[in-house]
Amino acid sequence: MAVTKPGAIPVLADSDIRTWNMKVEEIEAKITPKTKAIMIVHLYGLPVEMDQILAPAKKYNLKIIEDAAEMHGQIYRGKPCGSFGDISVFSFYPNKHITTGEGGMVVTDDEELAERCRMLRNLCFKKDVRYVHDEISGNYRFTNLQAAVGLAQLERLDEFVERKRAMGKYYTE
Ligand SMILES: Cc1ncc(COP(=O)(O)O)c(C=O)c1O
Repeated sequence: MAVTKPGAIPVLADSDIRTWNMKVEEIEAKITPKTKAIMIVHLYGLPVEMDQILAPAKKYNLKIIEDAAEMHGQIYRGKPCGSFGDISVFSFYPNKHITTGEGGMVVTDDEELAERCRMLRNLCFKKDVRYVHDEISGNYRFTNLQAAVGLAQLERLDEFVERKRAMGKYYTE
């Protein structure tokens, strides 16, 4: 939905039957001169094979959008999931490792993108000029109350992840 909203066309890769993540080996063949970004989604605690994404992204000069909605506290080859994308997102929906009831978080190292996200989050108010809107978005503001709940949960993230792993092990057995 987010991809189609600005008029972009998503090109799908199939799911791997073993991990349910995208088949990374399908990506390169789907890249055309029109391709702008690779959007990856880590699922059910299993990180996408990032090495096989980072290489084509670099080769074809593509951005990486990382859906880390389910990956709070998860690591891929020593690096936290959510740190691979030019822009990465986490969900705080109730079934996630950290929840604030609803809401989520966008992370990026790119200050320009960060500023744009702050603007889009808040009805497209500009940084220094309020009530002048050159674009339209919506109200996606996160409340301080939600942030307080989220921060308290963040302190217990290791414990939550450990518990989920124990539950996963139990189901597997
Ligand atoms: C991988 C993944 N992406 C996106 C979402 C959507 O997140 P939200 O419900 O916070 O919009 C979810 C879960 O709800 C998810 O598991």
